[in-house]
Amino acid sequence: MEENQIIAMPRIGDPAPEFRAVTTQGEINFPSGYKGSWAILFSHPADFTPVCTSEFMTFASLEAKFEEANCKLVGLSVDGLYSHIAWLRTIKEKIEYKGMKDVEVKFPLIEDITMEVAKKYGMMMPGESSTKAVRAVFFVDPKGIIRAIIYYPLSLGRNFDELYRALIAMQTADAFSIATPADWQPGDDVIVPPAGSCGSAKDRMEGKEEMKCYDWFFCTKKISKETVLEKILKK
Ligand code: BEZ
Repeated sequence: MEENQIIAMPRIGDPAPEFRAVTTQGEINFPSGYKGSWAILFSHPADFTPVCTSEFMTFASLEAKFEEANCKLVGLSVDGLYSHIAWLRTIKEKIEYKGMKDVEVKFPLIEDITMEVAKKYGMMMPGESSTKAVRAVFFVDPKGIIRAIIYYPLSLGRNFDELYRALIAMQTADAFSIATPADWQPGDDVIVPPAGSCGSAKDRMEGKEEMKCYDWFFCTKKISKETVLEKILKK
């Protein structure tokens, strides 16, 4: 790949670009090796840096929760494999942060020294850094389609509760053919029907007490937290 070659960044709704990579957990094929699961592919600027360390400890501590929601985590930076291994070992052996200690990062961390994957996914942002990937997050669904993309600058650590909320919200939207309003959490009212087909919501509201329409374009209904989680989470 030529330096400075401009590559179209994948967008929401696109198939996630395919790649094979060396990781701390062996070789992976992405997204083909993740079919049937959601996956979060996320980049970080560099190993042995404090914000990234806090992020990895937090994500690793939440891995079981994401796994329960059928979602696998895959990290990436443009550092090499031995740097990754040494950094993750240091995290486990030395870093205690916000009650987290002895944290083992079990999900794969991709080495991307050539920046091939980072460039393919638009994780390099020269205005921010020409040598480091920014903090990008790609949500890929079980069919290998990119469903959401979030970017953060180098100085800003991600909010992992929000990543989990976004994952559950997208899964809920798929499972119940609804949309989720601002700040939605499982158990909150959902929007019926999804944006773009609101006209039918009022028609379908007749006799459906659980649906509340404020106007033709804004109808909500209740789906209990238990109903959502029963459908989404692995038993
Ligand atoms: C950090 O993770 O602490 C960091 C990485 C690159 C630039 C600035 C901060």
